[in-house]
Amino acid sequence: MSAPAAMLAGLGGRSVVLVGLMGAGKSSIGRRLAQRLGLPFQDADSEIEAAAGMSIPEIFSRLGEPAFRDGERRVIARLLQGPPVVLATGGGAYVDPATRAAVRERGVAVWLKADLGTLLRRVSSRNDRPLLKQGEPAEVMARLAAERNPIYAEADIAIESSDEPPEVTTGRVAAALDGWRPGSRTDLLRVNLAQRSYDIVVGGGLLARAGAYAAPLLRQKRVVVIADARVADLHLPALQAGLAAADIATHIVPVRPGEASKDFTTLARVVDEVLDAGVERRSCLVALGGGVIGDLAGFAAAITLRGIEFMQVPTTLLAQVDSSVGGKTGINTRHGKNLVGSFHQPRLVLADTDTLATLPPRELRAGYAEVVKYGLLGDARFFDWCEANAARVLAGQADAQREAIRVSCAMKAAIVAEDERESADKRALLNLGHTFGHALEAETGYGDALLHGEAVAVGMGLAFALSARLGHGSGQDTERTRAHLARHGLPARRSDLPRRFSAEALLGHMRHDKKVTDGRLTFVLARGIGQAFVSREVGAEAVRELLREEGCEA
Ligand SMILES: NC(=O)c1ccc[n+]([C@@H]2O[C@H](COP(=O)([O-])OP(=O)(O)OC[C@H]3O[C@@H](n4cnc5c(N)ncnc54)[C@H](O)[C@@H]3O)[C@@H](O)[C@H]2O)c1
Repeated sequence: MSAPAAMLAGLGGRSVVLVGLMGAGKSSIGRRLAQRLGLPFQDADSEIEAAAGMSIPEIFSRLGEPAFRDGERRVIARLLQGPPVVLATGGGAYVDPATRAAVRERGVAVWLKADLGTLLRRVSSRNDRPLLKQGEPAEVMARLAAERNPIYAEADIAIESSDEPPEVTTGRVAAALDGWRPGSRTDLLRVNLAQRSYDIVVGGGLLARAGAYAAPLLRQKRVVVIADARVADLHLPALQAGLAAADIATHIVPVRPGEASKDFTTLARVVDEVLDAGVERRSCLVALGGGVIGDLAGFAAAITLRGIEFMQVPTTLLAQVDSSVGGKTGINTRHGKNLVGSFHQPRLVLADTDTLATLPPRELRAGYAEVVKYGLLGDARFFDWCEANAARVLAGQADAQREAIRVSCAMKAAIVAEDERESADKRALLNLGHTFGHALEAETGYGDALLHGEAVAVGMGLAFALSARLGHGSGQDTERTRAHLARHGLPARRSDLPRRFSAEALLGHMRHDKKVTDGRLTFVLARGIGQAFVSREVGAEAVRELLREEGCEA
């Protein structure tokens, strides 16, 4: 079967529906795509004009926007009922719930996404955009983007289409369609950090589509993949095939699984092998694995040739909801965890939920603790969602996992955009449960005895208990938090851990924590579920009493 024929077979008789703001390139890409796929091209706006016998500005001025939207809905429904086409829609079409439902049933929605500057440049010379006449074009476009982007994000596929030739964008759309299959949905979130902004792509089948996402960002048609050796056995072929589909060659640097690889010895070896591979300043590394690989490869990218680009392909739930986003990279030293590192943002995060199918259940649960953390620290409704959906997330249901990752990443992205380097207390909220958690991990030796997420789970239980003890929150919230964690197989109390701890030893670790300021311990406390805050007022005595009450030895 030829490539277009195979792609059409994969689409299963569906139309390809291009959505996005005016100026995103839906018509020009649509025409080229139709030619490539051997399908007819249809432009919904032209069809509406033909049906109404007048131009769109005339429909707006004579009949009004509601009449236009009504006609648009009917025309798109009719076009989708016929044999497959490539259909370019007007900017507001996909906002209509009935149109979205029709597209979901009969089409594959592709969101063409461009930055505001590009959109304005493209539409500035045209006079047929009634909505833009409603005010200052830049303001109107910004408002439309803010209103519509969350809706466009429901599309099956989303493609950045800023400054690049339409042929290139068309190629990326085709590559992304190539990997699409019914039921797969891709959410694309943005971490807004000016010129260091990047996308987090969440969904199934992303490894197969990695080339489509990576190619536009790469300055060379090759990448060096730093891969967790266990993950490489399971998922590297799919990633390589996905990259090869966009003619991207790969050089592999395997790394032994486990926290022990986050050390100077492994870092030195990885950097040497990356240099052996002949990387240049324009080269890009790819981290394939969990948080260990993301932190290690990110740090290697930060220091090789004084900084090269890297992409995150996280394969644990913990890495997909937390460590792959935000640019904290680093390694451990004998003094403690993550004590040597750098802020270095990735260019792209591809969180493929399919990779979670091979993750051991204990690792999945540990990652889930970080999902719960987002609800507990700042979103009580998301905690409600967690209570209702945790079982589905942990049973591997793709829609629940995607939603858990999407909400977690959206929250982390917003926090990182506000406080990238943890210079205010905003980003520090992400450390809920971590002061206790890191101390427990240090005591157990950062190994399989207690996984990071498990330590955070106990730490969150302790942070809520400490908050209640200090009069900030209620004991009920502590109980609710612990009950949820325990119900899903996570430790939530010191006594859930099989070994004993000394309160003084744990306090000793807390005093060496990165978060200590002028010798004072820093805790993230909570006034209730979803209401975390940073406190430097907690005395050691209160912590000691709590730990003793929790069964720690003196
Ligand atoms: N940078 C940050 O902001 C940040 C945030 C949180 C945690 N972290 C760091 O993340 C690390 C923990 O990450 P983690 O929990 O992902 O651990 P990990 O990277 O050690 O992965 C856990 C285990 O799962 C295996 N694995 C990974 N993906 C798999 C898959 N799809 N199928 C089967 N097995 C798979 C790995 O081989 C490993 O044995 C810690 O070092 C922690 O400090 C960093």
